[in-house]
Amino acid sequence: MSGHGTPIKMTSRKCGPLMGTAEVPGDKSISHRALILGALSVGETKITGLLEGEDVLDTAKAMRAFGAEVTQHGPGSWSVHGVGVGGFAEPENIIDCGNSGTGVRLIMGAMATAPITATFTGDGSLRKRPMGRVTDPISLFGAQAYGRHGGRLPMTIVGAKTPAPVRYTTPMASAQVKSAVLLAGLNAPGQTVVIEKTATRDHTERMLRGFGAEITTEVTDEGHVITLQGQPELVAQEVAVPRDPSSAAFPVCAALIVPGSEIVVPGVSQNPTRNGLFITLKEMGADISFENEREEGGEPVADLRVRYSKLHGIDVPAERASAQIDEYPVLAVVAAFADGVTRMPGVHELRVKESDRIDAMARGLEANGVKIEEDDDTLIVHGCGPEGVPGGGTAATHLDHRIAMSFMVLGMAAQKPVSVDDGSPIATSFPIFEDLMAGLGAEIARAD
Ligand code: S3P
Repeated sequence: MSGHGTPIKMTSRKCGPLMGTAEVPGDKSISHRALILGALSVGETKITGLLEGEDVLDTAKAMRAFGAEVTQHGPGSWSVHGVGVGGFAEPENIIDCGNSGTGVRLIMGAMATAPITATFTGDGSLRKRPMGRVTDPISLFGAQAYGRHGGRLPMTIVGAKTPAPVRYTTPMASAQVKSAVLLAGLNAPGQTVVIEKTATRDHTERMLRGFGAEITTEVTDEGHVITLQGQPELVAQEVAVPRDPSSAAFPVCAALIVPGSEIVVPGVSQNPTRNGLFITLKEMGADISFENEREEGGEPVADLRVRYSKLHGIDVPAERASAQIDEYPVLAVVAAFADGVTRMPGVHELRVKESDRIDAMARGLEANGVKIEEDDDTLIVHGCGPEGVPGGGTAATHLDHRIAMSFMVLGMAAQKPVSVDDGSPIATSFPIFEDLMAGLGAEIARAD
C-alpha cells in the first residue's frame, strides 16, 4: 500500500543520451484480472510475468481473503487455486486495496453477486475516488452498498442473494465499470449485457473468453454491445502477462526528448484499446519503429525501437482518449518539448484518477516554466521546443504514480533539475522504475 509511509522526495536532472533495452514490468490491468479470474476458476491458474507492484499485491491479498489460495513461486511466477464462480467466502476483515481503483472496483463487481458481505477501504487517494459508478450497476443485480458521502470508501457491499442479470450502458468510458458489471454477471443466471459508447480496454472480455466463458462483442448503433452468458464454469489457465504499455510509455517518452537517445522496449502490447499514445507520438513526429510483431499472452505485441526526435504539437483527437487515458501525464511532458501547441480535449476522466491529473500536470508544468491552459475537459500545453523547458520546479504528486514518473521524465531533458515531493507511489505500478531508467543513463536521485 502506498501513501502510508514517509514521502520520498526525488530529483531528476539533465542526462546524456539514453541507450539500451528497457524491460518494463507486466501489465497492471492484466495482472489484476489474472488473479481475480484465477480466484473465480476451478483448478490452479499459473501466472508468469505478474506485475509485483503494490496495487497488484493488494489484489492478491484480497483474493486470499475471499478464499482463494494465492502463492508466489518466484519473481513474477504465481499460482491461484480458485474457488469457482459464486464460491467467494466472506472475508474476515476489511479489504484494503491501497491505491488501486482497478483492484477495488473489479473486486466489488466480482463479489456483488455472491451471498456475502465485504467492507473495502484504500489509501488517501483511493478514499477520495468515486465508487458510485460501480455501486449503481451492481445494485441492479441486487447488491447493496453502504459507503461514505458521495459514494466514497470505506464502503460495505452486501452481495445479492438471488442475483438478476443486468443490461447496462456505461455512462462514462470506463473499463473498470464495464469489468465490474461483467464480473458481477458471472454469478447471475441468463445474459448480462454491457453497452459502451466508446470502446475501452478489452482485457476482461479477452481473458473471460480464455477462461472458458461465453462472451461476445458486437458493434451496433448503440455502441459496443458485450453479452456474457451467466454462471459458466471458469477453468484454470496459464496466463503469460505481457509487458505494460502504460509503463513502457515512460522510457519511450524519455528517449524521445533526451538528445541522442536510442532505446529498445521489447514486448509492448499493441492492443488497439491501449496503443493510442504510440499513434499520437508518431503524429507528433516521433521516430518509433515496431519490430518483431507477434502475439504474447493473447495480446498483439511488438518491440519498440525509439530514437530522439524533433517533435511538433498536434490536436489530439478526443476519440482517442480511452486508448491512451493513462498516458496523458507523460504526453503532456513530451508536448512541453515539442514546437508549437498540443491540445488534448476529451480528458475529463483524468480528474478522477489517482489524482486530478489535469490539475496535477498543469500546476507541475507551470512550476517548471511551461505555459498551460486547461478547462474541465481539456489540457493545452504550449511547447517550449526541444531544449527550451526551463525546469527548476517541484511538482506535487498527490499519491499518483504516473504524476511522479512524468515529472522525473521532464527533468531528464529540462535545463534545470526537476523534483517531486513524493515518489513513493511509483511502487504501485513500476517498482523498478528508478533502476531501469538509471540503467539507460538517467540521473534520478532521492533526497536524504
Ligand atoms: C483500468 C481502466 C482505466 C485505467 C486504469 C486501469 C483497468 O480506468 O485508467 O489505470 O484495468 O480496467 P477507468 O476504468 O476509470 O477508465
